[in-house]
This record gives sequence, structure tokens and C-alpha cells, in this order.
Amino acid sequence: MRILVTAGPTREPIDPARFISNRSTGRMGYAIARAGVRRGHDVVLVSGPVCLRPPPDVRLVRVVTAAEMQKAVRENIAWCDVLIMAAAVADWRPAHMSCRKLMKNEMSEKLLLERTPDILGSVRDLKGNRLYVGFAAETENMISEARRKLLEKGLDLIVANDVTRPDSGFEVDTNKVTLLTPEGVVEELQVMSKDKVAEKIVEWIEWYEGTRTLEE
Ligand code: CTP
Repeated sequence: MRILVTAGPTREPIDPARFISNRSTGRMGYAIARAGVRRGHDVVLVSGPVCLRPPPDVRLVRVVTAAEMQKAVRENIAWCDVLIMAAAVADWRPAHMSCRKLMKNEMSEKLLLERTPDILGSVRDLKGNRLYVGFAAETENMISEARRKLLEKGLDLIVANDVTRPDSGFEVDTNKVTLLTPEGVVEELQVMSKDKVAEKIVEWIEWYEGTRTLEE
């Protein structure tokens, strides 16, 4: 299969010294890219700014902002069979980047925010037979929130990620996730390494693609 994965945060510049971003380190998305290659797939990894080693045998596309990530995803969508949006896209960006450093007392007046593009939303009409997988990092009502996003974004699978636990979510090597499809909960996984979670996600995708091929 040809797998397009996004990973890491995006950064939305305020001025030459500051940006809006989030706590994503990219570990989950990079683990998916590695698992894809290990299991014999072709992988393009669109990565926000992270401090991780590029996985071998992966085509890496480095981006910074949500707009750049959207462009990279749109440029590669026709190539892929599977899109996995593991990136933590910043939801808001400054309406204008100041070309000089803002004084702190200018911030409240000059810092106007606007929404970043919805990347999954912008490739929804290009889905065709492709499999779309999203992530939902939640602090409360994890299953119902993940289910809402799964349906609203027209996904085949969503990985609901509990980010309240110290051993799950941001800045750790382990994760506690539940896999959900429009039919319901597929599997609530135990806490395990992000590499192992990645393996499970890619295995599920292979299984799902296998059942679709049999139906045809
Ligand atoms: N996502 C996206 N484009 C955005 C924001 C998010 O494609 N601008 C993707 C993420 O990569 C993830 C999924 O949508 O796979 C859910 O992301 P999340 O930030 O949880 O969803 P939002 O729609 O931003 O929901 P909310 O801010 O209400 O939690």
C-alpha cells in the first residue's frame, strides 16, 4: 500500500521570535511511518517541526505551518491509498505575521487570530476509495468526542488518544488508545509503546483493505 502520514505539530508564526503551537513531538506519526516501511509499504511522511531522526526508506516532506501541511497533503493525496493524519495541527493562527518583534504590550491589540485550514476537510472530496484515518487527542468524553470527529470528518478509522494520563499522549514513548470505526469500537488497547500502537494501526489497515478486496 501507499501510505501518506502526517506527524508532529504545526507552528503558526506571530512574529520573527514567536509562534503558536502545541505539545506534539511527532513520535506517534514517526512510529506509524516506521511501522509502514517495516511491513513493506511505501510511505510519504509529512512532518511538522520535530526533533526526531528521519525514518529510513521514507520520503520525508518537511513543513512548518498548517497551510504548508495542507499543501503537502493535497499534493500527495492522489498518490496514496491510505491517509493517516497523526499531526496535531494548530487550530488557530495569527491573521497576519508581524515582520518585527511585537512589544509585549502590543500583543492584546495586534494579535488577531483566525482558524487554520481543516486539512482533512479539504481532501474529503478526493477520498474515493482511499482509507482515511484520523487521531483525536482528548482530555474528556474521549469516545463520544472521537466518534463525533470520525463522523464529521468522514473517516474510516479514528484513533482516540487519552492525553490525561502520564503514560499516554504528549512527550512520552507510550500511548493508551482506542480504535473506532463508524460501526463502533474496534479495540481498546492497553498502554503500550507508540511503536506497538503504530504496528496495531497498520495491521488494522491491512486487515480492512484485505476485507474490502475480498468483497470486490
Ligand atoms: N485535523 C486536520 N486539520 C486541522 C485540525 C485537525 O486535518 N486543522 C485532523 C487531525 O490531524 C486529526 C483530526 O483532524 O487527525 C482531529 O483533530 P483535532 O484537533 O482533535 O480535531 P478538531 O476538529 O480540531 O477538533 P477540536 O479542536 O474541536 O478538538
